[in-house]
Amino acid sequence: MKLGELIKGADQEGKEKHVPVIDLAVATEDRDQKAVRITVGKEVEHPNTLEHHIKWVMLYGVKAGALVHVATFDLGPTYGVPTVVTMANIDDFSELIAVEYCNIHGLWEGSLAL
Ligand SMILES: [Fe+2]
Repeated sequence: MKLGELIKGADQEGKEKHVPVIDLAVATEDRDQKAVRITVGKEVEHPNTLEHHIKWVMLYGVKAGALVHVATFDLGPTYGVPTVVTMANIDDFSELIAVEYCNIHGLWEGSLAL
């Protein structure tokens, strides 16, 4: 089995709590960077307990047809709320892809075409 076969998406049960939603929260005026926000549980809040939580979120971009890493967020259970923001220069990107890991429900992905 390949890892990609285990990643769930917007067409699967549990998507409301797990699919990471990407949006561009703020555009800065004096730099080429934009604020990229990733929210897990935007439709329905995901539990954040020791027993059931989002452990990490990763953000990738597609640049000139290649996948590039943008940021990784390692969240502690109960304190690290699974909404994260990073600044990034994404002008040359065609897409953003976020992947998150729920300790019970596995890997989930969401994307934003730019
Ligand atoms: Fe979960």
